[in-house]
Amino acid sequence: MITKKMTKERKIIITVDGYSSCGKSTFAKAIARELGYIYIDSGAMYRAVTLFALRRGLVAEGIADEKRILEILPEISITFRPDRETGYPVTYLNGEMVEREIRDREVSENVSPVSTIAGVRARLVELQRALSTGGGVVMDGRDIGTVVFPDAELKIFMTASPEVRAQRRYLELVSKGLPADFDAVMRNLSERDRIDSSREASPLRRAEDAVILDNSEMTPEEQMIWFRELYRRRMNES
Ligand code: DC
Repeated sequence: MITKKMTKERKIIITVDGYSSCGKSTFAKAIARELGYIYIDSGAMYRAVTLFALRRGLVAEGIADEKRILEILPEISITFRPDRETGYPVTYLNGEMVEREIRDREVSENVSPVSTIAGVRARLVELQRALSTGGGVVMDGRDIGTVVFPDAELKIFMTASPEVRAQRRYLELVSKGLPADFDAVMRNLSERDRIDSSREASPLRRAEDAVILDNSEMTPEEQMIWFRELYRRRMNES
């Protein structure tokens, strides 16, 4: 059981890293709701920068103009405001609501090359830290437990089998009425895994002190039961 006393006494930082389409954001949002913490989607920031670069014609077909993107970075402001109905943060790019657009296929296909640019990462890491002062934050991404918050009190690394991840992503696209092809989804996921894990700047890897959650065969409720136990133990240990 997670008691009110536990969540009030000490507000910690919880990091959730892992591969694409593992259900990180669903899980991280559920944790944040349960603890009364803020949820921060670091991937949305990389997606917002990618959208801006796409609009300026600085990235296309997976190739980014690194030099020009670094030049236009100071023109980009990324903010989050809570959705009126769900309370979850919605992404704004220079004051424009872009939550839907940043999830589009074009952004998904170009976000990996933009996020390999070290200068882009440095700027976004700064922003991620600034948004988290005081704790009480659940942040998901790829390098949150390794680079952004190496001293975070609770780190989780999520994984699931490639087939399960592709199936989830495929069903998500279908449910949104978007064109979906299972094999193409598999290819896009494995390409993103390859780039995310092999890039020079902050590659995706598990922090040594991160706890692994393989949710291939777990329901969202089973994941929450797993998390409550982990959190309770961690809070009692320290
Ligand atoms: O979590 P997501 O799929 O929305 O993230 C989009 C892309 O952003 C992903 O392909 C890798 C990149 N990303 C990153 O490099 N570092 C993070 N902390 C979060 C996302």
